Amino acid sequence: MSSAGYMSLRGWNDMRYFDTHAHLADARFDDDRDELISSVLPASGVELICEVACDLATADKSLKIIRENDYIFGAAGMHPHYADRMDNAGMELLRGLMANEKLLAIGEIGLDYHYDFSPREVQRRWFGEQLFLAEELSLPVILHIREAMGDCMDILRAHKASLLKNGGIMHCFSGSYESAKECIELGLAIGIGGSLTFKNARKLIEVAEKVPLSSVVLETDCPYMTPVPHRGERNDPTFLPFVAAKLAEIKVLPVEEIVETTFANGCRVLRVPSTAAALAE
Ligand code: NI
Repeated sequence: MSSAGYMSLRGWNDMRYFDTHAHLADARFDDDRDELISSVLPASGVELICEVACDLATADKSLKIIRENDYIFGAAGMHPHYADRMDNAGMELLRGLMANEKLLAIGEIGLDYHYDFSPREVQRRWFGEQLFLAEELSLPVILHIREAMGDCMDILRAHKASLLKNGGIMHCFSGSYESAKECIELGLAIGIGGSLTFKNARKLIEVAEKVPLSSVVLETDCPYMTPVPHRGERNDPTFLPFVAAKLAEIKVLPVEEIVETTFANGCRVLRVPSTAAALAE
């Protein structure tokens, strides 16, 4: 919990947020990234961020952001969209990157059968290989699964021992409550972001209502997935309060409890070094 003394120093918001999934390297942040990271986000209570580098070919931009900012950690992996560009050299590059102690997880990795930008068998192959790497390095994973829950669960079950040991996050969860339950039983947390506020969120609302808060982390996926009432605008971590408020309404809990608990969950799941977590106290 934050100390009263520190909280009195806060601006408009006394709560601290952990955005467990951001893409601040995206070109849509080029014009105001520095200002956002150095002043706007800290002033809005955003105290930890996991910046996700999802294309190894362009990871340098994310790595620079992670290196230059104490409160920004990261994840790296080959997104299923780019699976057809992955090869053994890419796996070695990823293995080397993960020696950076500010890179906390392998991700986002997974399967995307909605866009099918890479052939499905190629997606499955490199998803599996990257899960093996996470196992070898004892790291959590950040998973991107879209319209592929059946194949995903088959693959995850085969990695059950490693997942139970190292954990991870089902990013932008879009499955049923039954799938969410099985993911949690496999040691994964459920990543919830702007889509919770969308009109068609009936299934996700049911998931949010039923899963224990101890298994939920907040995320933006910015610049995508902007929550209501800002849809159509670029998303950024200052919009996390809209997701937290919606989750509080669904779970009939105080928003402070939602925010503090999901912050702690993010630190636990991504194993944020205790020095950084303490800085955010
Ligand atoms: Ni993402």
